[in-house]
Amino acid sequence: MLRVVVCVSGGGTNLGAILEALKDNRIQNTQIVGVFCNNPNAYGLIRAQEAGIPTCCLSPKTFESRDLFHDAFCEAINQWKPDLIVLAGFLVTIPAKLIEQYPNRIMNIHPSLIPSFCGVGFYGLKVHEGVLRRGVKITGATVHFVDTGCDTGPIILQKAVEVLETDTAETLQRRVMEQAEWIILPEAIGLYAKGRIQIQESKVLID
Ligand code: GRF
Repeated sequence: MLRVVVCVSGGGTNLGAILEALKDNRIQNTQIVGVFCNNPNAYGLIRAQEAGIPTCCLSPKTFESRDLFHDAFCEAINQWKPDLIVLAGFLVTIPAKLIEQYPNRIMNIHPSLIPSFCGVGFYGLKVHEGVLRRGVKITGATVHFVDTGCDTGPIILQKAVEVLETDTAETLQRRVMEQAEWIILPEAIGLYAKGRIQIQESKVLID
């Protein structure tokens, strides 16, 4: 049984998509053993609690230093003994020591087609504002492994979404979630659980 910890910061719709995929068996042989959140007001916490999943909520603001928060964050994650950590709309930078402890075992969903509109400053609505400002016709979402860079780890899955002339950042964000994020994140976890994801020279191969 693959032990998965999911990290959320907001609405938790990606967590919801993972729960749906578990329910209808699109993800097999997997258990979400814990949900970590950095925001006590996040609806993602409620989703986890309603699903009976153990939660831990620690806000960086309540720690005297970022290092102390990182220590508490790593301890909280490790106590669940995960095989895989999934960042599902998680807006906290992952400490390098956790990335080194879980090489190619931390997955992130990013709401653009990496390497476009990613990196420092590109998160949440800002991604879609950048897409509209540049006038690209196609955007989408990317699931990738987390490395010590920002959105630079090996790409696992991507899915394209058309940009409409009538789009606002909000309508585009919603469509990218519905048509891409909520599909490829559960798919990537399902593939990982089946052992179908290999890494060769920092490229992901799916067999
Ligand atoms: C999503 O667009 C996600 O990609 C981004 O934050 C938005 C909300 O995610 N990081 P969720 O509803 O909290 O899963």
